[in-house]
Amino acid sequence: MEKDKEMSNIQKAVTILRQGGLVALPTETVYGLAADAENSQAVHKIFTAKQRPTHHPLILHVATLNHLEGWVREIPDSAYRLAQAFWPGPLTLILKKGIKAHDLITGKQDTIGIRIPEHPMALSLLEELGGPVAAPSANRFGRISPTTAAAVFEELGSSVDYILDGGPCEVGIESTIVDVTGLTPMILRPGFIISQQLEEVLHQEVLIKEKSHIRVSGSLSSHYAPITKTSLIQTDQIPELQVEGVCGLLHRTCIDKPLPNLEYFPMPETPKLFAQSLYHLLREADKRQFTEILIEAVPDTSEWDGVRDRLKRATFTFK
Ligand code: TXA
Ligand code: MG
Repeated sequence: MEKDKEMSNIQKAVTILRQGGLVALPTETVYGLAADAENSQAVHKIFTAKQRPTHHPLILHVATLNHLEGWVREIPDSAYRLAQAFWPGPLTLILKKGIKAHDLITGKQDTIGIRIPEHPMALSLLEELGGPVAAPSANRFGRISPTTAAAVFEELGSSVDYILDGGPCEVGIESTIVDVTGLTPMILRPGFIISQQLEEVLHQEVLIKEKSHIRVSGSLSSHYAPITKTSLIQTDQIPELQVEGVCGLLHRTCIDKPLPNLEYFPMPETPKLFAQSLYHLLREADKRQFTEILIEAVPDTSEWDGVRDRLKRATFTFK
């Protein structure tokens, strides 16, 4: 019965996509805002709904490599290996674009981002559609990506034609993006899949693109930030915190002496569970009208790369 309902919801979503509408799509990372990739008018609606500049490229989501014909020009051996190891899964590969890849999807670049998502509803929808959708995260430009159907509605309201509810996202942060068009694969955005895992599959070094522009990007609108001022603090600063008004503190380590004007949001200790709940908790904290949201910094090790990257993007300054 449940399965029947799920199938009819997927059918409805596919019909809307075929008619040129926008569907919020659950994936294992975050919810996407999907349009039929072949329909450039529909893809254009994504930019309007998100208030996103049109030169920002979109990721193409497919159910199988067969649906990539015409969209990519060549698939290097490294891409095949990564696809075999990690797809369906939270990995986006940047490949050379094919003739079908129009400027609106590629942001006029010579490359295109591709991913096979792991969520069963996303896969059923893509199989049923029989072709790719273009889908960025289903948030307004610069805001936190949604990890539940309710968060999609908060972000986009009626500018999305249908929200396919697939429950809370397992991974919780956006996919790892790897550019495999050059001699050395390069991580453009860290995520759940880390460089060592990619290196194990490729038997080759994988570089991580310097993110220095993000650290100084206080004035940029493109960081994934709450509306409330948000700052990162070190663990040893927590006992001596002096704050104005009431602040929220997302912390990973134990708090010995709670302070009266801080509200505490305990975070999981492992990177996997931390990532899973991060955006949801940030979103909740953001609704509370705190003077400031404080987040305890996370370890400097590679399994925290994805989370550390999102924390940097969400915060302006180190206190
Ligand atoms: O997990 C995810 O990747 C989610 C779910 C919905 O799949 N999608 C997502 O999309 O995070 P979006 O649009 O919010 O972020 C995509 C990122 C952007 O920063 C964009 O610049 C980059 O991917 N990107 C897309 N195509 C690219 C290309 N050809 N070259 C370099 N970067 C690209
Ligand atoms: Mg996004």
